[in-house]
Amino acid sequence: MIIEDVIYRIVFDSRGNRTVECEVHSEDFYATAIAPAGASTGTEEAVVKDVSFIDEIQEKVSKALIGISVFDQITVDETLREIDGTNNFSGIGGNFAITASLATAKLAAEISGFPLYAYLGGIFAKELPYPLGNVIGGGAHAPGSTNIQEFLVIPVGADNFLDAQTANALTHRKIREELRERNIFAAKGDEGAWAAQISDEMAFEIIKSATEKVKDETGIEMRMGVDVAATELWDGERYVYRDRKLTTEEQVSYMGELADKYSLLYIEDPLHENDFEGFAELTRAVKCMVCGDDIFVTNIKRIQRGIETGAANTVLIKPNQIGTLTDTFRAVKLSKDSGYDIVVSHRSGETEDETIAHLSVAFNATLIKTGVVGGERIAKLNELIRIESEDELSMIKIKRL
Ligand code: PGA
Ligand code: ZN
Repeated sequence: MIIEDVIYRIVFDSRGNRTVECEVHSEDFYATAIAPAGASTGTEEAVVKDVSFIDEIQEKVSKALIGISVFDQITVDETLREIDGTNNFSGIGGNFAITASLATAKLAAEISGFPLYAYLGGIFAKELPYPLGNVIGGGAHAPGSTNIQEFLVIPVGADNFLDAQTANALTHRKIREELRERNIFAAKGDEGAWAAQISDEMAFEIIKSATEKVKDETGIEMRMGVDVAATELWDGERYVYRDRKLTTEEQVSYMGELADKYSLLYIEDPLHENDFEGFAELTRAVKCMVCGDDIFVTNIKRIQRGIETGAANTVLIKPNQIGTLTDTFRAVKLSKDSGYDIVVSHRSGETEDETIAHLSVAFNATLIKTGVVGGERIAKLNELIRIESEDELSMIKIKRL
């Protein structure tokens, strides 16, 4: 079966910004995918093309893809790169490319009668990731709140996905209670995490207390993590916090101290996007998952450099950072072949599109980062609950616990 039509339309994301949806058709079947959007984007990410170019891109993409087999994902993705003609998708836009790419895979899955995760991952894709939940946030997602962009929780003691998300949601609620008890006003940031005018230290203490209560009530052990999004703090010389500026050395030791003090399981982007050495130093110093987002941007060249230098031990996978499913798969494969964990991730601007839930199972991700509350986050979590209830899947074993 071949691609017979490709249609783009403008829709909205969770921040109320315009984004693109792509619909790919074959006979009586069709599938769609919607592009998410980041706020703290890496410099080397695939370029997001303004939606006003929709007509000309639709013409170009549909002309190129019509006639290709829906099952020939690699040709579809290589064709998208060819017609783009650049190395960062500044021609047709990573947003236009990734939606055509993912919609094609969803269509192929639909036609073959498999759920997307099974179509992509095969019969051995039988493990669910743990949900990595953003519970307090600041940085670019809620200016005025914490310096650290995301304070995360991982319900490591849960033995199924439903309980795992229950524990994350309960933690999120308990944090609000803790904030109220301290008379601290809180709003929600872009990903549904609590945004409050508190210090990073207080955020850790509040989460610690909330997770202890969750453990008492549910028996589920929780661990903490952070996404520092340090590129946003870096001014070219120092890491600028509200009350101090840290050199690279000081930043590395601060991260190490936090990892010790709060027994962190996960630290994302502790250093800025070009500091492979700083990443390597921290990775040697701590036992936990050290994850690269802006530094790797789901790009095999940058991941390869990370592997060679020993930077990080975990790779964040965001399909729209690289622009096609094939390149996303290559990034996953390279990371895993080198012993790195992978974490499939949403963007801060999201939609009801639940594709990443399937990718997390297909790719055998250790974690899925997709927030805790908000319809656009819940869409992915509920999809994983559906997958869990329909098929016999177990929770993945976290190796760096
Ligand atoms: P985003 O960032 O705003 O670019 O989606 C989220 C993250 O840093 O993980
Ligand atoms: Zn990040």
